[in-house]
Amino acid sequence: MGNDARPIGMFDSGFGGLTVARALIDLLPRESLVYFGDTARYPYGPRSAVDVATFAHQITDLLVSQHDVKAVVVACNTASAAALSSLQSSFDVPIFGVIEPGVRASTHVTSTQRVGVIGTVTTIGSGAYQRAFAEAAPAVDLVCAACPGFVEFVERGELNTDQALILAERLLAPVVDAGVDTLLLGCTHYPFLARTISRVMGRDVTLVSSADETAFDVLARSVAGDLSAAASVGDALAPAHRWISSGDVSTFERLGRSLLGPELVEVEPHSWTT
Ligand code: DGL
Repeated sequence: MGNDARPIGMFDSGFGGLTVARALIDLLPRESLVYFGDTARYPYGPRSAVDVATFAHQITDLLVSQHDVKAVVVACNTASAAALSSLQSSFDVPIFGVIEPGVRASTHVTSTQRVGVIGTVTTIGSGAYQRAFAEAAPAVDLVCAACPGFVEFVERGELNTDQALILAERLLAPVVDAGVDTLLLGCTHYPFLARTISRVMGRDVTLVSSADETAFDVLARSVAGDLSAAASVGDALAPAHRWISSGDVSTFERLGRSLLGPELVEVEPHSWTT
């Protein structure tokens, strides 16, 4: 194990990356996180890949240059699809995405090889999942559907409402009709709507989120020796997490804590205009 006490940086357009933050805190309890939620510019899903890539580079630069992070987790599928490889070639720290871990997790789960993936318009339109499955699991018969509107429900804190169910029934119809046995939630916001999505898909369909598998990737790298905060198991090293939002900090604090848990204590503002 290494002994690098610097924090791990991570970002999303808003609250979605908190699903990944939860998994990181649970799996790597000694690590400190700096989480950036770009709520002033959410949703990323309807934006062009060029815009999302620009935002991803700006935030990664901020995490690296102002917060001295030792790694960055792109806790957003839209940004991973638009910018993962350009981020990896532009920054010296390890950069983790969520697409490849999600593909790996769902190929472990499916027994029929009929897999659905849902995500934002930009993610699905980018073809990133189609390419990742074709490479990692060519036997999988993949059905993709964009789900515009899901992210907005989460950002408003309207989880599992009747309106969300009506929208889910409409958007998920092609995936239901395809008879998949596994549905990959290809947007980090979607696990917060899991009850609604599961209600529409039926109990026989397993929902897969990339959050845990992404955290396992970070753990694997950490165990390999160059990231870990603790010198040895048993060290009383208390992590210090920081939460930053480019939007309304009191909303981020209130809703963020209800979504993530008690570790989300105080939210710092960030303004893109200063
Ligand atoms: N949570 C993000 C994703 O995984 C972004 C969603 C959005 O802002 O539209 O795609």
